[in-house]
Amino acid sequence: MAALRIGIAGLGVVGGALLRLLLLDNQRFADAGVDVAVTAISARNRRRDRGVDVSGVAWFDDPVALARSPDVDCVVELIGGADGPARAAVSAAIAAGKHVVTANKAMLAEHGAALARAAEEKGVSLLFEAAVAGGIPVIRAVREGAAVSRITEIAGVLNGTCNYILSEMAAKGLGYPEALEGAQRLGYAEADPRFDVGGIDAAHKLVVLGLVGFGVETALADVSVEGIEAVAREDILCADALGYAIRLIAIGRRTEEGLEMRVHPALVAASHPIARTEGADNIILLQSDPGGSLLLMGPGAGPGPTASAVSADIIDVARGVRGPVMRAPAPKIAPATLLPADRQMSRCYLRLSLQDAPGAIAGVAQALADHAISIDSLMQPSVGEHPGQDVAASVVITTHLAPVGEVRKAVAAIAARPFSRARPQLIRIEDFEG
Ligand SMILES: NC(=O)c1ccc[n+]([C@@H]2O[C@H](COP(=O)([O-])OP(=O)(O)OC[C@H]3O[C@@H](n4cnc5c(N)ncnc54)[C@H](OP(=O)(O)O)[C@@H]3O)[C@@H](O)[C@H]2O)c1
Repeated sequence: MAALRIGIAGLGVVGGALLRLLLLDNQRFADAGVDVAVTAISARNRRRDRGVDVSGVAWFDDPVALARSPDVDCVVELIGGADGPARAAVSAAIAAGKHVVTANKAMLAEHGAALARAAEEKGVSLLFEAAVAGGIPVIRAVREGAAVSRITEIAGVLNGTCNYILSEMAAKGLGYPEALEGAQRLGYAEADPRFDVGGIDAAHKLVVLGLVGFGVETALADVSVEGIEAVAREDILCADALGYAIRLIAIGRRTEEGLEMRVHPALVAASHPIARTEGADNIILLQSDPGGSLLLMGPGAGPGPTASAVSADIIDVARGVRGPVMRAPAPKIAPATLLPADRQMSRCYLRLSLQDAPGAIAGVAQALADHAISIDSLMQPSVGEHPGQDVAASVVITTHLAPVGEVRKAVAAIAARPFSRARPQLIRIEDFEG
């Protein structure tokens, strides 16, 4: 059998690691029983040192030309970005009847269903294990492991940068700006971190998991997304006092009213594995019937784990493993019927800064009662006080299950009252099974 000829478009963090693995450590692929060879590469800067001699590999300035090269059987796209050269190269590869491996969650979140249809029509593979949770084989778990199960929930921590920041805030008592600065210093967060801390990166991954696991196409704009920028040190401390940790969680959950697709910070019971996922790790909880409950945890990014996941896809292509791109054949992928955020039910954590005056607590209780929200607990923590101001009462309330929209209305009503001294904080409480 002739070697599978690989063209790599993008030689950065992941592409560079993969290139070195294929050129310097090809025996690993041979040990897996496959014969693979890099025949073409493309990046922006031809002169940049890639840590390996590439003189024997054809260079392409244009990744689309690489995708069309007759010397390439499988295009590995590691450029990134929903559109632009990445999508152009992937579309050209599929049109030319070539297999594609990619780690590009942004492209799959925006165009995954269309690319799956195109790949299946052409009879080529489109594999993307590394696009969600880096080194964790979650796509395989959802697509193959749970192939006959009805998936009811896919949830977890899908962004290592946010998890690192929140873990550091808890471990070192840092505020959000200092923890973000530390993450940037260590290279966990980009100079412009909005994609990560604003929840967009996690939302891309959730949309991809929705395509694979629920067989639905969700517009990114329809996912309810909230980042971690407003989580304060006080919230971490109060959550801890209540027995919770705060994590940025992504949840896709089937309910009787419709599918919930959401990304937001949440209080998670400190004893739950999701709360215990520290640093830049990721974790995914998969609930399916009759498959049961499955937890996957590990490195969500980084050159080694990501290149390892890309390599597993290359090996599948080389072995001739074929099947639908998602769990179900592409023509069965349907638009998602989502339950709007305001109608989703949740327990909630509220942190209020109140004027130390008679009637303030009664006013809060009345605002909650007006929206049929019942209080589960109320505490007055010793954190979050503002010396020198007339705010003496920082009050933390947890609610019973209520529609999130009603809680938001109650919070807006509380914020508008004269006894309210700062913008109230509202964070959902997520009671995961297990
Ligand atoms: N980094 C991770 O840990 C990780 C984890 C999971 C998934 N991913 C995904 O993997 C993909 C790559 O990420 P990365 O971190 O490796 O990115 P990166 O370090 O920024 O590398 C991007 C590469 O694309 C090349 N490139 C940019 N524009 C190009 C163009 N027009 N034509 C040809 N090449 C072009 C760059 O060339 P130069 O080197 O010449 O500038 C660079 O080699 C993304 O989709 C990302 O979301 C990354």
